[in-house]
Amino acid sequence: MKLMVTGGAGFIGSNFVHYVYENHPDVQIVVLDKLTYAGNKANIESILGDRVKLVVGDICDAPLVDRLMADVDACVHYAAESHNDNALIDPSPFLHSNVVGTYTLLEAARKYDVRFHHVSTDEVYGDLPLREDLPGHGEGVGEKFTTESRYNPSSPYSSTKAASDMLVHGWTRSFGVRATISNCSNNYGPYQHIEKFIPRQITNILSGIRPKLYGTGKNVRDWIHTTDHSAAVWTILTKGKIGETYLIGADGEQDNKTVLEMILRLMGKDPQDYDHVKDRPGHDLRYAIDATKLRTELGWAPQYTDFETGLKHTIDWYTANQDWWQAEKAAVEAKYAKSGQ
Ligand code: NAD
Ligand code: DAU
Repeated sequence: MKLMVTGGAGFIGSNFVHYVYENHPDVQIVVLDKLTYAGNKANIESILGDRVKLVVGDICDAPLVDRLMADVDACVHYAAESHNDNALIDPSPFLHSNVVGTYTLLEAARKYDVRFHHVSTDEVYGDLPLREDLPGHGEGVGEKFTTESRYNPSSPYSSTKAASDMLVHGWTRSFGVRATISNCSNNYGPYQHIEKFIPRQITNILSGIRPKLYGTGKNVRDWIHTTDHSAAVWTILTKGKIGETYLIGADGEQDNKTVLEMILRLMGKDPQDYDHVKDRPGHDLRYAIDATKLRTELGWAPQYTDFETGLKHTIDWYTANQDWWQAEKAAVEAKYAKSGQ
């Protein structure tokens, strides 16, 4: 198989490229990545060669996308602007990459009848109430996201991802593009940009900066190790039913305060040694995925079922790879300081 991976130099995309490289030796990979602030050639440098090529370019560049799509069997689409806090400062690149970019890829996939897998987020469904606010603390009321949940995005980032999902639906039904969609929960693991919650706190502690928790810290995210996400996307690409959406999650709900205190404890620090900072405007309360469809219909199951162990590995990775993030740390923190975060 010849596979195009958009955004394959970013966090999740590069982990997927490594996953396919290691587990499927018959697959040739072309990474199309603009190398924005979030893309890093170093993430895939060690495997570039005969089987993995990097094309530096924009998914909105129609002639380039056309030329690359003409020569592949399948496309897995990760490229996007991905960070909520950035979209609250300037949404315009999110419209460009997430909406126009997806449209440009779909047009080329349609022309060459390329199998297309669109990587999306659970945030398209908006948020859920905190369990503590539900009757009986939410036990047994089935209040997780499913593929039946209503699209209800609450942020500039998630609304552009919802728009991109809608484009995929339209191109599948009207033009017969052979597409699937996956909506995944929060990923953690190596190569995640240090603007994101978990790597920001780990690298704060390694840099002697106090960790920063937004608001009360009661907000819940459903954590999945990025390797489990990669395995799920491969499963959907190869076994998924055209036109279907699959939700990806590993039953990893944790509130932010608990995660931060776990990081501090695992790094040998006082678990209370952090600052509460300004909350994110419109901050989604809780995400939780019901992945029954993916588990039962396609037989996927996560391997990283113990969050604390996965987190420990992630801390070890950022500790051992300080050259990978150190040059950017001051600028990332300066940007947050401007927003009071
Ligand atoms: P990331 O920001 O780490 O990486 C995005 C990559 O896309 C970068 O390499 C960047 O250079 C590239 N890119 C951005 N705009 C581009 C353009 N116009 N043309 C070509 N390349 C471009 O993001 P991530 O966290 O790895 O997320 C990847 C995908 O997974 C996104 O679509 C995101 O919505 C989705 N997702 C992320 C999570 C998560 O927890 N991070 C969870 C579910 C879904
Ligand atoms: O749910 C999937 C989504 O997960 C993806 O679609 C997004 O691309 C990805 O960025 C992620 O979105 P979040 O906004 O949930 O991730 P983030 O790492 O920015 O924040 C996680 C939680 O931590 C969120 O509730 C905000 C909080 N937070 C974040 C930062 C950066 C803090 O408390 N302190 C911080 O410093």
